[in-house]
Amino acid sequence: MKIKELGLEEVRSVDWNYDKECIQLIDQRLIPFDFQINDYITVTELCKAIKTMVVRGAPAIGSAAAYGIALAVKEIENVESCNKKEELEKKMDLLLATRPTAVDLANFVFKTYTVAIESNYSFEETLLQATRLTTQMIEECKLIGTNGLEIIEEGDTILTHCNAGPLATVDHGTALAPIIQAHRNGIEVKVFVDETRPRLQGARITAWELEQEGIEHEIIADSVAAFLMSEEKINKVILGADRCLLDGTVSNKIGTYSIAVNAKYHDVPFYSSFPWSTIDQESNTAEDFKIELRPEEEVKYIKNKEGEVLIANPKSKAFNPAFDITPPKLITGYITAKGVLTTQELVQKIKEK
Ligand code: MRU
Repeated sequence: MKIKELGLEEVRSVDWNYDKECIQLIDQRLIPFDFQINDYITVTELCKAIKTMVVRGAPAIGSAAAYGIALAVKEIENVESCNKKEELEKKMDLLLATRPTAVDLANFVFKTYTVAIESNYSFEETLLQATRLTTQMIEECKLIGTNGLEIIEEGDTILTHCNAGPLATVDHGTALAPIIQAHRNGIEVKVFVDETRPRLQGARITAWELEQEGIEHEIIADSVAAFLMSEEKINKVILGADRCLLDGTVSNKIGTYSIAVNAKYHDVPFYSSFPWSTIDQESNTAEDFKIELRPEEEVKYIKNKEGEVLIANPKSKAFNPAFDITPPKLITGYITAKGVLTTQELVQKIKEK
């Protein structure tokens, strides 16, 4: 991704540094106020970074956790060979427990763990697998950008929610990929950016990414979207996803379901976009979703450049589910590396895989 204000042409939100032998993460908690890249050399530190959302966005979390398995292999280098599997699995469980909804994490972790075992705990092979999975996912996101062009028209006014841009996917993005591509191809659109309470990923991160690309946008409070649809001021919705079931049901940032219901009511096409690693090959029903509950402080406090500000009655409790569930009947299409698919086409392609 390009960061105009820092003059950076090529930067990724998750990367492996071969000289320092560590994972490097753009600290997404600081965007848009500061730009900082942190080094992570232990699995424990990395788990904390995933939990506290230094790195966030389903595909980026998946990539970070895959590199985490490489770190784990390095950490167990000197353990007796008979206990290596047990030790590696303990570290893998720590990684799996960090963010339960985003299935990319489990998908990437298991695929990297398998190579660690099959290569007899070769650090080089494990690292290679983490890099391979990341590169593959980035390529898919690039294709999502190209394929998504078929639904974008000059003058579109597009609603997006949370952040599904380059930072959330290491590079390119999912929901933002076609919008960025269109803009680079000279097709001008306007984006309405839901602020996305409680953590404000839209107001902070999506707005910043769109600004870096010079794409016209306005931040709106989450409750404004339905009003704008009723006024025919939004003609498309494009969002990312954290998990897609075999029948096309998706889980995404809390608030997605109400956007989908409103879009259906107002006849606004609603698109979900994701790489193949966001598909949960194991689960069939919405009950299988593991909806992450996050600390109530995220609702009661807002973070700004100076620190945290209490914005709610201090003695009240707060309920903070991070994701909700949207059924296929509310989804117009899925923007993927295999094209813009209907539910039926998506289900068929998942089966073919
Ligand atoms: O809690 P977050 O910020 O990790 O949630 C992220 C989202 O809900 C994104 O929409 C999703 O991960 C897709 S990112 C391409």
